[in-house]
Amino acid sequence: MFKSCFIYMCGLFSFLILILGIALTLSSVFPKLVDSVAEKEIVLKNGTDAFDAWADPPAPIYMQFYFFNLTNPLEVLDGDRPAVLEIGPYTYREYRPMEEVTFQDNDTKVAAVNTKTYIFQPNMSRGPESDLIRTVSIPAMTVMERFKDDALFANVISSYMKEKQIGLFTTRTVGELLWKYEDPLLKFLNTFKPDIDPNFGLFYKSNASNDGDYVFLTGQQDYKDFARVDTWNNQSTLNWWTSDECNMINGTNGASFHPVVNKDEILYMFSSDLCRSMYAVFEKDVTVKRIPGYRFTPPSQVFANSSVNPSNTGFCVPAGNCLGSGVLNVAPCKQGAPIIMSSPHFYQGDEKFVQAVFGMRPKKEYHQTFIDINPLTGVVLQAAKRLQVNVFVEKMDRFSQTGNVNSVIFPVLHLNESVVIDDSSVAKLNGVLMEENVLINIPFILMGIGILLGGVFMLLVCRHKMPESTPAERQPLLAS
Ligand SMILES: *[C@@H]1O[C@H](CO)[C@@H](O)[C@H](O)[C@H]1NC(C)=O
Ligand SMILES: *[C@@H]1O[C@H](CO)[C@@H](O)[C@H](O)[C@H]1NC(C)=O
Ligand SMILES: *[C@@H]1O[C@H](CO)[C@@H](O)[C@H](O)[C@H]1NC(C)=O
Ligand SMILES: *[C@@H]1O[C@H](CO)[C@@H](O)[C@H](O)[C@H]1NC(C)=O
Ligand SMILES: *[C@@H]1O[C@H](CO)[C@@H](O)[C@H](O)[C@H]1NC(C)=O
Ligand SMILES: *[C@@H]1O[C@H](CO)[C@@H](O)[C@H](O)[C@H]1NC(C)=O
Ligand SMILES: *[C@@H]1O[C@H](CO)[C@@H](O)[C@H](O)[C@H]1NC(C)=O
Repeated sequence: MFKSCFIYMCGLFSFLILILGIALTLSSVFPKLVDSVAEKEIVLKNGTDAFDAWADPPAPIYMQFYFFNLTNPLEVLDGDRPAVLEIGPYTYREYRPMEEVTFQDNDTKVAAVNTKTYIFQPNMSRGPESDLIRTVSIPAMTVMERFKDDALFANVISSYMKEKQIGLFTTRTVGELLWKYEDPLLKFLNTFKPDIDPNFGLFYKSNASNDGDYVFLTGQQDYKDFARVDTWNNQSTLNWWTSDECNMINGTNGASFHPVVNKDEILYMFSSDLCRSMYAVFEKDVTVKRIPGYRFTPPSQVFANSSVNPSNTGFCVPAGNCLGSGVLNVAPCKQGAPIIMSSPHFYQGDEKFVQAVFGMRPKKEYHQTFIDINPLTGVVLQAAKRLQVNVFVEKMDRFSQTGNVNSVIFPVLHLNESVVIDDSSVAKLNGVLMEENVLINIPFILMGIGILLGGVFMLLVCRHKMPESTPAERQPLLAS
């Protein structure tokens, strides 16, 4: 009696566990539980891992520059196609801690400035910062563009350039081109207009400085808002999307952390180099240091011409003067300098830009921008932002310095700002993923136990009944 009672208890128990397992699987309460644990973790609060990673990103960020050295300046002035040699990388380690961090509004917001410092890495570079590069003089090109329709000034400036032998091209060191040099033409103009800075550099004033006051949402109210930019220089950044605006922000700043990512998600990232926000869409599954991730890349529409992507109309400057696909004219946010941004080697751009300069070899693998994100935690596993800085060069009748040059989008340099998750973060992430895997699999484990106990129950029933039953009794049972 006691024995059969035990057996039936066992049967009932296994049945209940099985039902519970199935119910939990169907209600997906454990994935939700995992999410809610993640939600508590993912908030900018003094003392959390997420806060530490946000305040001072642990993985090393590298900024690598590749210059295009012009080999045939005289022929270019005669109307030939420019021929360039790619020279690089020149690598800088980038430090970007959040500073002046103050929590606001009951800890739902946090104000900070993001100071970036670049430190040269000689052993990750092809040569010293004193390497010489011959390229288009951006100050000269900017000044000539500015005064090309002003007969009087054009004449004065052109004579000065002749006298001082300032031409369309210049040879400067890597350090000068990137960070700062005193340009003779700008210095000359500075004597008339003191507000013109005599110094120039593509990243002049970018070192050890910040790009304004940010206010971030901490994610306390909604974890999806974690580290989302709320305001920038006191301007609201939500839906900030006017084509002539130079600084637009949408989504997370640099997308350093983006909790729980789906394949149909669109990631918005602010890029002060492009003077706009960019977006990226799912491309493929990847593995970084054995951790699974989704790769997001900007679709070609981001750089598409205005007839394909009307939101790029603002980059047709002057109005109506659209250059074509794959390039963005950012002159309005570079004080009128004729600077044009593209992907390196005009990747995803019109073939005509690639053909116009000898030495362009676009390759997806090397030249695309991407971000790899672990979908379960939203942690960035790897990312590379790749851009090319070009100058618009054209012949100007009032400036003999431009000779017979053909209109061309002339590549100056391309850059790769990249980061790969560090090993201690990998270890931490593996721990979190392991816990989540166990949690998520609990319903299936329960189902397994239910089935196992069910089997044991069957076995016990059979063994319990067998001695009592005679062969004659069992016959019909088997037949039915
Ligand atoms: C975080 O906490 C530490 C120690 O409690 C304190 O020194 C620091 O000022 C706090 N930081 C902020 C931004 O409140
Ligand atoms: C801040 O939080 C406290 C406690 O949770 C609450 O009583 C108070 O109303 C909140 N203040 C604001 C401005 O939200
Ligand atoms: C940037 O500034 C830091 C600190 O002021 C300095 O050590 C570093 O050499 C600078 N980097 C460049 C590229 O000038
Ligand atoms: C770039 O070209 C100039 C002119 O030919 C040359 O002097 C210089 O050494 C080249 N730079 C490098 C790094 O090879
Ligand atoms: C900016 O972000 C908001 C909120 O996430 C979104 O609704 C809007 O569509 C975004 N705007 C653009 C232009 O991407
Ligand atoms: C824009 O790009 C599309 C596709 O590449 C092309 O067919 C069209 O002619 C281009 N329009 C202009 C104005 O360049
Ligand atoms: C950055 O991209 C360039 C190609 O644009 C590549 O050669 C280089 O290895 C990349 N650097 C890193 C650290 O991934």
